[in-house]
Amino acid sequence: MTDARPDETETLAAELLPLALEAARRAGELLRDGRPDDLTVAATKSSPIDVVTEMDIAAEKLITGHLAEHRPDDGFLGEEGASSAGSSGVRWVIDPLDGTVNYLYGLPTWSVSIAAERDGETLVGVVAIPMRGETFRAVRGGGAFLGDRPVRCRPAPPLERALVSTGFNYVTTVRAHQAEIARRLIPQLRDIRRGGSAAIDLCDVAAGRLDGYYERGLHPWDLAAGDLIAREAGALTGGRPGTRPGFDLTVAATPGVFEPLQSLLDDYGAWHD
Ligand code: IPD
Ligand code: CA
Ligand code: CA
Repeated sequence: MTDARPDETETLAAELLPLALEAARRAGELLRDGRPDDLTVAATKSSPIDVVTEMDIAAEKLITGHLAEHRPDDGFLGEEGASSAGSSGVRWVIDPLDGTVNYLYGLPTWSVSIAAERDGETLVGVVAIPMRGETFRAVRGGGAFLGDRPVRCRPAPPLERALVSTGFNYVTTVRAHQAEIARRLIPQLRDIRRGGSAAIDLCDVAAGRLDGYYERGLHPWDLAAGDLIAREAGALTGGRPGTRPGFDLTVAATPGVFEPLQSLLDDYGAWHD
């Protein structure tokens, strides 16, 4: 690695962040203001309850269109199908609407999640939460912010006083096993929450609104931006002990809660179906 590399990374991140913020702002406005009263399911994916609406698709188009206009050589990985390698080394990882089931029902907990990565490392993460009027952002090594205010995860309570969020997969057999893990965990915690947007859960850990969060079955677009935001706010994130967060398991928590939570989840087999 040359001495010029950190500066070059900072310069690149400084170019990518405003693009991500603007794309998330526009998509958030489209989703908030353009939601049809008679919104229906356009398609299903992994199971009959894993739904896509026309708005998920429209939001992804808007985001990739904006980013490609300014950075035509970048790659894309979007939940609704955007997939290209690009030639610049930068790849955008996008969940245009995280919390689709909440959105479908008119519940407010949904978000737009946009991350930019290079060489497998996330450089920039933005999570817009239009119904809260909030946007979280982080640049690698530069801290995490809610709007213009720096955020930090909360001081760790003992595990038995920790408020921990989780999520359940769309596939019935997987969610049945996840419910069993939650049943074993809940007597050992303050309580469990199920918000319905993984990206928001990760940001809520960052902002000290949750002590921890875990889930099995997340995809890169669910967690890329929120994971960076949580880490930059001082939280620890991982998968099974010694691994990075991913599909098998994602755990994010304030230091002090992270290790006992991760260890219990590993013992209980939260990383398999
Ligand atoms: C889902 C949400 C949910 C989580 C699921 C995700 P989607 O994303 O993040 O909270 O429990 O695992 O798939 O389908 O609304 O984009
Ligand atoms: Ca998602
Ligand atoms: Ca989605």
